[in-house]
Amino acid sequence: MSTFSAPKGTYDLLPPESADFLAVREAISAPLRRAGYGYVETPGFEHVELFARGVGESTDIVTKEMYTLTTKGGDELALRPEGTASVLRAALQANLHRGALPVKLWYSGSYYRYERPQAGRYRHFSQVGAEALGAEDPALDAELVILAADAYRALGLRQVRLLLNSLGDAECRPVYRAALQDFLRALDLDEDTRARIEINPLRVLDDKRESVRAQLTDAPLMRDHLCEGCKSYHEQVRELLLAAGVEFEDDPRLVRGLDYYTRTTFEFVHDGLGSQSAVGGGGRYDGLAEMIGGPALPSVGWALGVDRTVLALRAEGVELPRADATEVFAVPVGEDARRTLFHTVTELRRQGVAADFAYGGKGLKNAMKSANRSGAALALVLGERDLAERVAQLKDLATGEQVAVPLENLTTEVLAKLNRPTAR
Ligand code: HAM
Repeated sequence: MSTFSAPKGTYDLLPPESADFLAVREAISAPLRRAGYGYVETPGFEHVELFARGVGESTDIVTKEMYTLTTKGGDELALRPEGTASVLRAALQANLHRGALPVKLWYSGSYYRYERPQAGRYRHFSQVGAEALGAEDPALDAELVILAADAYRALGLRQVRLLLNSLGDAECRPVYRAALQDFLRALDLDEDTRARIEINPLRVLDDKRESVRAQLTDAPLMRDHLCEGCKSYHEQVRELLLAAGVEFEDDPRLVRGLDYYTRTTFEFVHDGLGSQSAVGGGGRYDGLAEMIGGPALPSVGWALGVDRTVLALRAEGVELPRADATEVFAVPVGEDARRTLFHTVTELRRQGVAADFAYGGKGLKNAMKSANRSGAALALVLGERDLAERVAQLKDLATGEQVAVPLENLTTEVLAKLNRPTAR
């Protein structure tokens, strides 16, 4: 223990569990890369105003959860609470929208929200996200949803449910908003919630308190107020998902915690996670580019939470294969053996074998313990007598079987034992 521990609401990723995080990032990003999404990386902090305007002045994220700071130069910055506003800012800054559309981008990184920490909710967390900028096409919304659903499936998750809704557009949402406000104003609600009715009435629909929920059963729904354009757009998205075999549940009460959404909105939830059940979410945000001072650029995207996806894997008992697990562990006894086997390990690694070595001059017994602990299939043991006979012992750690192999073709023998073709 040192004097310090990780700040509240954060945790460290350490081996062997950290391998699952890498595997999840890989499984989510691989389908995106195959679908033409290019990698984008933006700074970990931005001007506060970008998020205030982009995510929304009235959202919890902006009012309560941002880590803000004033630099020595007087700039007001915030650690990024999400990725969409930054990615859009970066694309507009680089004029990517002047080229071929849509611009399809993916990203992976750390995000920061000053939330009340609990299981699955952290102050520092990790997302992989995708944004498709500059096209209004139901097939693009469907593509993104399918890519996320396929990523969860590839990971072996079976209990992820997809909730789907449409939040309407600039034409029909204001009419619905007014109808919802009229309904909400007549209810028996506390002062904070009454204030929310005036600023962001849709968020009231998301209130988790039973006393509020009970009064919302007859609340008007966006679904019944969609204009013809939104209705037909949403129907096309639904049809494309059905045709792709992606199951979803229509959730007319699905409201997201960020203000920029229009039309298609969705969330992936996992029932094994308790109250923090959203493993990912996203939707269309046709007005965001203009909200941050750019041109009209209809866009759609999502972000999947890596931390919660790992929790979902644990909840379902899914074990991911460890990609770079040690295959061969070298155990030298004596200084000459060390030099010889160190060279062999380097050779094996150059041939693509995951190999490790008993460092620190351990005795045979301790070194064999390390070999067993490493999870390697094979141990390569070289003692003084072996060295004199110009052989090494290749031991199968599962069966205990051991064969002597000539030092001259050690690498070739190990590769053969691992069923690897020899590289030229
Ligand atoms: P979000 O729903 O705020 O959307 O976050 C996406 C995912 O990040 C959540 O479903 C959850 O898995 C994870 N997440 C969020 N907050 C936390 C937290 N405090 N601890 C652990 N995991 C968390 C967005 O961020 C949007 N930018 C998504 C998007 C992209 N929409 C369009 N494009």
